Amino acid sequence: MSVYTVVVYDGLELIGGYNMLKIGIILGSTRPGRVSPQVGEWVKALADKRGDATYEIVDIADYKLPFFGESGAEAQIQKWSEKLASLDGFVFVTPEYNHSITGALKNALDLAREEWNNKAAGIVSYGSTGGARAAEHLRGIMGELLIADVKTHPTLSLFTDFENFSTFKPADLHVSNINLMLDQVAAWSGALKTLR
Ligand SMILES: Cc1cc2nc3c(=O)[nH]c(=O)nc-3n(C[C@H](O)[C@H](O)[C@H](O)COP(=O)(O)O)c2cc1C
Repeated sequence: MSVYTVVVYDGLELIGGYNMLKIGIILGSTRPGRVSPQVGEWVKALADKRGDATYEIVDIADYKLPFFGESGAEAQIQKWSEKLASLDGFVFVTPEYNHSITGALKNALDLAREEWNNKAAGIVSYGSTGGARAAEHLRGIMGELLIADVKTHPTLSLFTDFENFSTFKPADLHVSNINLMLDQVAAWSGALKTLR
């Protein structure tokens, strides 16, 4: 990316180059056949239309993370930490497994600390009840990691937003909620940058 800066005159916001906010869309499941990539790509396509930040998919599966405490995979943990450190905010795309988040996501959260701190995040969850229970667990974890979780939380139903529980066909009504959530994540990500 080229290094450039554009000053927006009705605010002091800087857009472009190194000043652009970087938001990671974290895929919260890693199993073969998972649907999280479909949901993540949909969120990214909506986010990319906004022009307020650089959005990227961050796939936990790509990092081949060890289980917390296992030795011999320091390089993977280092790569994970560096990716998180490069981001200003997050959108967690999370399914509900046994009324909570996946073990893979919890492990990925546990494997870093300062890299999460003083950043903002939104949640997009899915499940039979929209993944609501997983999302509420995730909010508790984020509190401990000093991640500021925003209010607006799009919830996708396995029954009405997926065909055969596997092909993602989101109802239109979710689009405005995704944008509202991203408004909040972008605003808080920018504000928290001053704290770091
Ligand atoms: C181990 C396991 C536990 C699950 N538990 C729940 C649950 O408690 N509530 C729910 O709504 N869906 C539950 N489901 C269904 C998942 O939400 C659904 O399979 C979803 O597609 C999983 O996300 P993924 O495809 O990205 O892995 C569970 C699925 C798995 C594999």
